[in-house]
Amino acid sequence: MTKSEAKIRLAKLRAEIDVHRYNYHVLDRETISAAALDSLKNELFKLENEFPDLITPDSPTQRVSGQPLAKFKKAVHSRPMISLFDAFSEADMRAWQERNFNYLKNKESARVAALLKSGPEYYGELKLDGLAINLRYESGLLVQAATRGDGQIGEEVTNNLKTLSSVPLKLRRPSQAELTALGLTNLAVREILKLIDFGVIEIRGEAIMTKATLASLNKKYSAAGKAPLANTRNGVAGSIRQLDSRISAERKLEFYAYDLLLADYERGQYLETRAQADKLANLFGFKTLKQNRVCRGLEEISKFYQAVEEKRETLPFEIDGTVVKFNDLKMWPVLGIVGKAPRYMMAYKFSAAQATTIVKSIVWRVGRTGALTPIALLEPVKVGGALIGRSTLHNFDEIKRLDLRLGDTVIIERSGDVIPKVIAVLKKLRSGRESKIVAPRVCPMCGGQVIRDEGKVAYRCSNKRCYAVNLRQIIHFVSKGAADFAGLGPKLIEQFMTEGLIKDAADLYSLKAEDLLSLERFAEKKVTNVLVLITERRCLEPAKFIYGLGIRHVGEENANFLAAKFRAYVFKNSYVSKNSAEDVLEISDLIKFFQSLSLDELESFTDIGPVVAQSIYDFSRGVASLKLLAKFQASGLRLKFKSADRVPGLGQDNKLSGLSFVLTGTLNSLTREEAKDKIRTLGGQVKENVAQDTDYVVFGANSGSKYAKAKKLGVKIINEEEFRALIS
Ligand code: IVH
Repeated sequence: MTKSEAKIRLAKLRAEIDVHRYNYHVLDRETISAAALDSLKNELFKLENEFPDLITPDSPTQRVSGQPLAKFKKAVHSRPMISLFDAFSEADMRAWQERNFNYLKNKESARVAALLKSGPEYYGELKLDGLAINLRYESGLLVQAATRGDGQIGEEVTNNLKTLSSVPLKLRRPSQAELTALGLTNLAVREILKLIDFGVIEIRGEAIMTKATLASLNKKYSAAGKAPLANTRNGVAGSIRQLDSRISAERKLEFYAYDLLLADYERGQYLETRAQADKLANLFGFKTLKQNRVCRGLEEISKFYQAVEEKRETLPFEIDGTVVKFNDLKMWPVLGIVGKAPRYMMAYKFSAAQATTIVKSIVWRVGRTGALTPIALLEPVKVGGALIGRSTLHNFDEIKRLDLRLGDTVIIERSGDVIPKVIAVLKKLRSGRESKIVAPRVCPMCGGQVIRDEGKVAYRCSNKRCYAVNLRQIIHFVSKGAADFAGLGPKLIEQFMTEGLIKDAADLYSLKAEDLLSLERFAEKKVTNVLVLITERRCLEPAKFIYGLGIRHVGEENANFLAAKFRAYVFKNSYVSKNSAEDVLEISDLIKFFQSLSLDELESFTDIGPVVAQSIYDFSRGVASLKLLAKFQASGLRLKFKSADRVPGLGQDNKLSGLSFVLTGTLNSLTREEAKDKIRTLGGQVKENVAQDTDYVVFGANSGSKYAKAKKLGVKIINEEEFRALIS
């Protein structure tokens, strides 16, 4: 982006962000999700970093987050209310743990050594989506409630918090026995009771509105013709930051404690663990989250996180993830704070549902029925934890409804592992260079004519066989005898195709994580598995590749024959050194070989009939097939002979040379593929059908008509044992 372009974009971003800020804070209306707004702010921030002299004093980036409103009295926090770092995946959590271990390595203490040896104990908590509040109790009495503000100074909202029945106006004074039962030392018990009587205790936690309260309030508001509350967080923030505490009271908020500060002591001075602090908060008269759990290691944290995510919908309040804390409070000061947040806790959040990004181009996928569906290719963006690079647009009418153009900034939404959707276009961010999207006239898959049925929404490819033929070809390429993408079954291939990710087999090699993560039912683990599989298949045996090309009439045997010829060709033209069967060959070498074969030469091979010869010849010179081969070459796919491949003059064991075999039925000790491989390695040929000149028919359990035919023709029939003797 040039500087003058950046200047225009920055001005537009600032204006857009400001409109939503005004709607949210002044009008109490949420016109964009917090996640999408964050996404815009993030772009603004990055662009300003790139062009720092374009930063203006009124830019939203220059605002200290959550500055106290002038209308409230200011409250200076005794200790800063910091924020949390975010994690979105197990990998993020492991990285956090790793960083902590590295940090702790340099600290010399028995406690740290023990922790590094046996791993830390964590306390998993729900992450409530409300408003952070600090409650200050002096001599046991509530003297001040304050919002977080900028972390140092908040707004004094004591009267509003006093309307919450879950906020004790006076701390409950636990009995000595209750405190001792928590496992506290006598000294700690004495000190805590002293602080209740004469000292300062602060409780931090979240003020929230339950989902049920939101629903019933909104019902009431809509009956009274008032604007509804956008969500529970808005409900809380809006009501606590009201000067009239009657409004707070009406909104029935609740308070859950998640932190406890005993005067000026470090948290670990009198209390041992976070779990203990929760129990002490209960004894003081506060609600804590009963779902919170001690978890040994990150595996238990993962289980906790998953269980919470599953229960999320059924909880009475909104949460946006979990917070994972070191349970041992004595570790807190050791780990300390870095930048804006502590090392000793991490917000392990659920995927944020929305983000903003730019539409780079549109591809059209062809469905089963020939219907064309537009897919937006996006500037990759993290939605929650996952990088997303594409999004479905359903049909052409959807493009019109959204008034979407190429180059537009859009909001995309993803919930769970469902396909991300474009839900809105931010038209005010347009530069004027966006271009209209038009439906294709020819099918991107087969070049067939595109038609639109009268009165129907969908555009269709008029070639009825378009989808099926392509699908079958790709499925053939990944099948066992060919490239053998074990695990990438027809269902997945079809999913890739219907989602417009692949048009032909070569496209498999350019699949990227961000493409796969945009698919339904594709979580990170599955994506990694598929990508690993593709990498492993980036080098294929020539015979398997040739077979996978699906040249008409060329079955496995013909493919093997052609591969052997290719090997000889390569050898003769000294692409590879004489003793090395290890060399990697290019697809372009194979093209050269194919094109070196004249029709006469092809027909002269005894194993190849005239029809097959013509087919191979046509394939080697066909525009479509050469295009496909060039695509394979560009995709990085390479060929390599197995060192055991039969190569004239390389001195392999050729004991089955000149012998032909037909296999029938199931063998016990080896699979059909292994048996075939063995025969070929030893120089033999495997044939599909029994003929007069077949040398051996090997039969296994449930052998069929081939057995009978062999008998009739008097071909030698051997069982598995005899076969094994032959190949051993
Ligand atoms: S501990 C350093 N525990 O999340 C801040 N926070 O994203 C320590 N939150 O402002 C907070 N549930 O309002 C903590 N169980 C929990 C929480 C929690 C919700 C909020 C909190 C904070 C925000 C940080």
